[in-house]
Amino acid sequence: VTDPAIIKLRAPESDEPGTRVRVLGRVHRLRSQKDVIFITLSDGYGFLQCILMGDLVKTYDAMTLTLETSIAIHGEMRAVPPKQHAPNNRELHADFFTVIGRAAGDKEAITNRVSADSDPQTLYNNRHLVLRGETSSAVMKVRAATLRAFRRTFEETKMLEVTPPSMVQTQVEGGSTLFSFDYYGEAAYLTQSSQLYLETCLASLGDVFCICPSFRAEKSLTRRHLSEYTHIEAELDFITFDDLLEHLEEVISRVIGYLLEDEQIAQYVKELNPDFKVPQRPFKRMRYSDAIDWLKEHDIPNEEGQPHQFGDDIAEAAERKMTDIINQPIFLTHFPAEIKAFYMKKDPQDPRVTESVDVLMPGVGEIVGGSCRIDDWDELIAAYKREEMDPSPYYWYTDQRKYGTSPHGGYGLGLERFLAWICGRYTVRECCLYPRFTGRCTP
Ligand code: 4AD
Ligand code: MG
Repeated sequence: VTDPAIIKLRAPESDEPGTRVRVLGRVHRLRSQKDVIFITLSDGYGFLQCILMGDLVKTYDAMTLTLETSIAIHGEMRAVPPKQHAPNNRELHADFFTVIGRAAGDKEAITNRVSADSDPQTLYNNRHLVLRGETSSAVMKVRAATLRAFRRTFEETKMLEVTPPSMVQTQVEGGSTLFSFDYYGEAAYLTQSSQLYLETCLASLGDVFCICPSFRAEKSLTRRHLSEYTHIEAELDFITFDDLLEHLEEVISRVIGYLLEDEQIAQYVKELNPDFKVPQRPFKRMRYSDAIDWLKEHDIPNEEGQPHQFGDDIAEAAERKMTDIINQPIFLTHFPAEIKAFYMKKDPQDPRVTESVDVLMPGVGEIVGGSCRIDDWDELIAAYKREEMDPSPYYWYTDQRKYGTSPHGGYGLGLERFLAWICGRYTVRECCLYPRFTGRCTP
């Protein structure tokens, strides 16, 4: 007698009714009755209902089975009517099983049925087990599909992937959130953004993108700030601000399209976020100054509790309120230079403001920050001065304006925020494998 083939639960064609198979996985659900044990087996690819009957139920291993125990089951695949709600309408009738690794049985609640009221610290401490749950694993699968969809879109748009360094000696988004460390006796930082490096690639590589970690020493605990996050950044050469907005709308729309054309991913999104609405094009465009008026009209105060004024930063709470009320994607554009990063290009029509854009999504707020970049050498030097930055570490960045400058621009998208929006998650911490935020670097 030869062993039947091991099947992975992702391949429905290999588990036709009548075939004899061997499956390897962990006990995801368990229901024991007097004469029969129902197991939902999970192998990371999918789920399979397995039935133990007769003598098998009377074994020591069967009687002491716990959730998360890894087992091998041999048996025959049978079809079951859809009304029984078995995954893929299949059932494995076991004639034999072996325990591979017993599970202690003390963390079942954490692993399988995380409830909204579970203590968050317990959940973060046990993230390695929480990941086994259906919700967390579905989010991770949507995450992988999102990375695939972005790469596919960039490939189609003829953009080249590069991988800039994470250890740097320059800031991009202001000094306050830099993580610094000792680099062979010199001060160095973990990068906040790869933008400046992407800009240096345009001349030789054309339009480029990268998908790398960015690091921010964010002081406050919020729903949407991580200390390490996955940053999808792109930089485009010889473009106008309108080109940038067009490109962003196209990329976001294509990525959503690719996600939802995959049946399995569409199903996860539907289960995670039943209210998800595919954004209608064209996306709403709103100037910063109009947003300030809108906030005033709707009595949404600034951080000091005062009515918003031109020049105010639109803080997270106000931004989210506005996005939720408007309830569709917003391209918020033309922020004043004072509240934005040093590299942003001034609007030639109104030099008080920059050619900048934040993309805001309902439920999350800002998921993208982008702009056209200062391409004039003198202006860049003036910007360093205005921001009280020492230009010397930026010599290589400044050089781009000296050796064949060009009008260009780009953006950065926080993958975890994008996922929080698509998957309807309360916080970005649920949208990465092992979240890093103030006070947490474990597991
Ligand atoms: O708006 P930010 O700071 O822009 C930049 O870093 C630009 N240099 C990007 C560029 O033009 N290439 O960050 C971009 C995006 C934000 O819109 C947000 O989605 C995400 O990065 N982000 C964070 N995500 C999670 N945790 C944090 N602490 C984040 N900070 C920014
Ligand atoms: Mg931003």
